[in-house]
Amino acid sequence: MNRIAICGGKKLSGEVRCQGSKNAALPILAATVLNPNECELTNCPDLADVSSALKIITHLGGKTEYSKYTATVNAADIHRFEIGEELMASMRSSVLFLGPMLSRLKQAVISYPGGCSIGLRPIDLHIKAFRQLGVSVEEIGGKIYCKAEKIVPARINLIFPSVGATENIMLLAALSEGETVVLNAAREPEICDLQNFLNAMGAKISGAGTETIRILGVEKLKKVKYNIMSDRIFAATCLCAVASCGGDTVLRNVNPDHISLILSMLAGAGCSISCGHDYVRIKSSERLRGLGKIMTSPYPGFPTDAQALFMSALSAADGTTVFVENIFESRYKHVPELIKMGADIIVDGRLAAVTGCNYIQGASVEAQDLRGGAALVIAGLSAIGDTIISGVSHIDRGYEHIEDTFAQLGASIKRI
Ligand code: EPZ
Repeated sequence: MNRIAICGGKKLSGEVRCQGSKNAALPILAATVLNPNECELTNCPDLADVSSALKIITHLGGKTEYSKYTATVNAADIHRFEIGEELMASMRSSVLFLGPMLSRLKQAVISYPGGCSIGLRPIDLHIKAFRQLGVSVEEIGGKIYCKAEKIVPARINLIFPSVGATENIMLLAALSEGETVVLNAAREPEICDLQNFLNAMGAKISGAGTETIRILGVEKLKKVKYNIMSDRIFAATCLCAVASCGGDTVLRNVNPDHISLILSMLAGAGCSISCGHDYVRIKSSERLRGLGKIMTSPYPGFPTDAQALFMSALSAADGTTVFVENIFESRYKHVPELIKMGADIIVDGRLAAVTGCNYIQGASVEAQDLRGGAALVIAGLSAIGDTIISGVSHIDRGYEHIEDTFAQLGASIKRI
């Protein structure tokens, strides 16, 4: 059952509830390792990456439970400080357990993290920051050996606002002495959610959402129940699907402020958008218009995770859109698959020029990564004819039963 079959051309109308955020849940799950008391996480999405994170916590000695979108973690008995290759390779966020392990156990041995093959994805910024915080780090034979007798406060100036590096520094410094300051920090909403979770446990962190984050170390953390934010990229995925297929859909449990740029761009492409504090309504009836140029950049700029989604939605638009992918060096693996469906796309390095064709047609295509796979679902939904998508395990890492989401909006889609 690792394929999805779609009979395209149906309009998408109705209501969909936005899932909990994968990219907030994963650092928050890593953060539970800091706390010897129980953490209950609600609105925790039912995803392959979430189960990978729970497996890592169990491997380290923690107790975990997951049911009905609630994860419960008790990390009192954390004692293992090594994560093997298989667990590390399961996702990029495995690297976020480094900070909590060092904080609790003063040592850690990991191999390099996995995740979507959208670039080299080094962790040099994590390691450089950790060395400033007093961690000794040695990379020998594909493993990373870390020891931290004493974490010292530091003033860390990131050369790039890395999401993961910002999160790992917050996790390591939360229980250390003194005040650590992160300059040029990532500003994504998921960083704010992590700060809110850590502070709900008793940490003293401020500045998330700005380029300067201050972490004043505390001595202990308390039991907590926390509701994870909604997934803004899941929201973007649904909105791009309705935009390209046509229809009238309300997305519930979404924060419009997190996707304001995406909403204004969809309006610019010809959609009608209306919002409340926790919902977005999108109506699309005409052929979309090309958007000229889309450049990905760190939040609050255009999110790299929405690049493939917009490329798919605009493949049959009236006009041209040139994408500039500034975050990851090889995030166009979905392009050859979209070309199989009739899209007219030329890639040159970080640029991809999309000339809207009259329509795209169904084909057999293969997902190469998470968001590229979601883009192929969007293309299949709007294509004329049948599409078969293989490699669906990539998509399942970040979407809860994506076929159910679109079937409830009237799409002819099923897992086969
Ligand atoms: C997070 O990845 C997200 N993943 C990604 O979402 C997202 O695309 C990315 O942030 C950017 O917004 C999770 O939160 C689990 P980065 P992360 O560190 O932390 C380079 C999805 O589809 N870099 O901000 O890995 C890196 O190579 C995923 O949900 C270094 O050079 O992103 C990349 O070019 C895909 N050295 C750029 O920075 C480092 O030490 C951005 O990486 C770290 C990063």
